[in-house]
Amino acid sequence: MPPIQLTTVPPHGAFSLAVHGGAGPLRDGPERAVAQAAGLRAALAAGDAVLAARGSALDAVCAAVAVLEDDEAFNAGRGAALTVDGTAELDACVCDGAAAQAGAVAASRFARHPVLAARAVMERTPHVLMAGPGPDWLDAVGLERVDPSWFVTPARLAALRAGTSDPTAPAVPAGLTEPRVGHGTVGAVARDAAGRLAAATSTGGVTGQWAGRIGDTPVVGAGTWADERVAVSGTGIGEYFLRAALAHDVAARVRWTGAGLADAVRDAIADDLVVPGGDGGVIAAAADGTLVLAHCSQAMLRGHLGPAGPVVVA
Ligand code: GLY
Repeated sequence: MPPIQLTTVPPHGAFSLAVHGGAGPLRDGPERAVAQAAGLRAALAAGDAVLAARGSALDAVCAAVAVLEDDEAFNAGRGAALTVDGTAELDACVCDGAAAQAGAVAASRFARHPVLAARAVMERTPHVLMAGPGPDWLDAVGLERVDPSWFVTPARLAALRAGTSDPTAPAVPAGLTEPRVGHGTVGAVARDAAGRLAAATSTGGVTGQWAGRIGDTPVVGAGTWADERVAVSGTGIGEYFLRAALAHDVAARVRWTGAGLADAVRDAIADDLVVPGGDGGVIAAAADGTLVLAHCSQAMLRGHLGPAGPVVVA
């Protein structure tokens, strides 16, 4: 059973913020690791600016995740993992714990920032989850749209083709039936100065996933959750999070057993990921501002605000 690595960050100010940049095997070179650390710091700075101005936790997690969606070093927005067909199908979710509201998009192809599209679903529609909102809908809600090719980067195409030694092979590697594990889903959790909690998660899914596959990220309670007690954002192989409703499992353990956040996170990862053979991690925030960052994968890119500014652990 892989060990669970867990960090607890006690409350240290008026607000709290943590981000993740994905979980999985440690395989990126030093250059990419530097870029990822810089990306996490930029995301923390964006969220910090919102919270320091007494902005909401919801605004902060959206600001942080939007920064990571624009960063090719992560599996979200531009530079996201590609489907077996070589397309980017993006999933995102936001949860506003104080308002008990959520919004999500699945297989989004046109929204430059899927996290903002998810927020628009929450705030501008009577719905919670929309599949692939199209250009007309994005125009109607005033969100920036891009051509789907904008998300596809040479690095991600190379990753998709890595299963074959033939450089002229089509994007679909012969015989690929199982998605390869991706690395880099992004997310944020925050508690603002008014005590409100929020979570946001955004991803391209896993490299080589079947077109149309939807992971845990946009499913409220699986990859993303927030209520008045906890906010949770997950990263890892989405099927395991979906089968266990992992993010909600953390919240349920806090609510119904009275567990502290760290115990709830550790036990949920153990039961929902480790036992069935899954891989990944979560970041979580509690109502008192405590942050917990934990994973059972080899690595999880993560960072949080500390008393002396952003702290990043890559
Ligand atoms: N956790 C991201 C995904 O599996 O889609």
